Amino acid sequence: MSKTEALINEDKQYFAKPGRITYYPLAIESGNGALLTDVDGKTYIDLLASASSQNVGHAPKRVTEAIKAQVDRFIHYTPAYMYHEPLVKLSKKLCEISPGNFEKRVLFGLSGSDANDGIVKLARGYTGRPYIISFTNAYHGSTYGSLSMSAISLNMRKKYAPLVPGFYHIPFPDKYRGLYGNSQPNTVEEYLAPLKDMFETYVPAEEVACIVVETIQGDGGLVEPVDGYFSALQDLCHEHGILIAVDDIQQGLGRTGTWSSVEHYDIEPDLITYGKSLAGGLPMSAIVGREEIMNTLEAPAHLFTTGANPVSCEAALATLQMIEDEQLLKASEEKGAYVRKRMNAWLEKFDCIGDVRGKGLSIGIDVVSDRESKTRDNEAALKICNYAFDHGVIIIAVAGNVLRFQPPLVITYQQLDQALDVLEEALNQLSQGALDHYEISGQGW
Ligand SMILES: Cc1ncc(COP(=O)(O)O)c(C=O)c1O
Repeated sequence: MSKTEALINEDKQYFAKPGRITYYPLAIESGNGALLTDVDGKTYIDLLASASSQNVGHAPKRVTEAIKAQVDRFIHYTPAYMYHEPLVKLSKKLCEISPGNFEKRVLFGLSGSDANDGIVKLARGYTGRPYIISFTNAYHGSTYGSLSMSAISLNMRKKYAPLVPGFYHIPFPDKYRGLYGNSQPNTVEEYLAPLKDMFETYVPAEEVACIVVETIQGDGGLVEPVDGYFSALQDLCHEHGILIAVDDIQQGLGRTGTWSSVEHYDIEPDLITYGKSLAGGLPMSAIVGREEIMNTLEAPAHLFTTGANPVSCEAALATLQMIEDEQLLKASEEKGAYVRKRMNAWLEKFDCIGDVRGKGLSIGIDVVSDRESKTRDNEAALKICNYAFDHGVIIIAVAGNVLRFQPPLVITYQQLDQALDVLEEALNQLSQGALDHYEISGQGW
């Protein structure tokens, strides 16, 4: 039995099912940049970047060194009662890089999920209004607040209701597919209609605290919004005194080629959340927002004993510095453009590629069985993923049929070429019916 098999067998005896969406038997021993090595010594190119939590790559020296240096000074003292410099420095940096030309404050947490819970508290506290609106097909996290905000999987609803009250969902303005199974995208007005209808019939606009937005829906399938939707939404929010919060946990911090994905769109959030890559993969999240909103509640309304852990703060400072020094925002944009050229050729060559979309190195490849109807081909997507895995490339499918192409931003051009060669060969083989032997049942979202 291989080390991988032995480890996975043991894992099954102790680790519980709700904590992992099954894809491949990859048991990681080490990582370096965009490369992973498994416990049996096989090397892979990582196009998933640990769900976009490794934007600066695996184990970059300057981050590991910053972590080690802080561990030797002190591992933690809770910000709930005392002060430390790494927290102050990181808060300052986050205020600087976050969108919005206004005075800001920061709060820290341990996961993207708890940051989104914080948004709910702050928006309700500041506005004195109960309701939160977010989008169908959104993933905002796994705590009760953030999962009530999400609307992507019945497994996040079934058997543990009631959820947090006061959440409503509206359709995301998908630029590729339209509403209710239409193959063509709808107009801005059509996408806004359910919200306007809501305001006229069953949710008083003046009782809505906040609308929570992912600029590009990540786990929902790298879905981009139609042009002009966000500015129209923003107008509506301003008209009714509704706050705008952006969940930038997946799309932020260089993933799309900018510090915040908001920079691509006409929208200015009052609150923004970060997580995942913020501390190079150590547990950390942050809410950054307008001072008057952030200071609206009194402690202990939103604090965590191990929040703003100084080790995580130092890891975050090193991560952000590395993005700056190594020009990883530009790298994300340029490498994204480079791979898109090749992927765009796939659109011509392979009938199963319906769409290639995204920004920077946040790319979705939509695999379809029919280009006209844009019917999702979940099986084909998973077959491609399995072929890639067998040939040393890690990629997963989200929303059933969308290949999630989000490598570490430090990936080299040579590694990109190698990974693209493997994906292209998977598409060739798929089109010849040569991937039917893959057993995909039980895999994926
Ligand atoms: C957009 C978005 N928000 C929130 C989260 C939740 O973050 P975490 O898993 O760190 O709680 C995720 C995780 O996938 C995400 O993609």
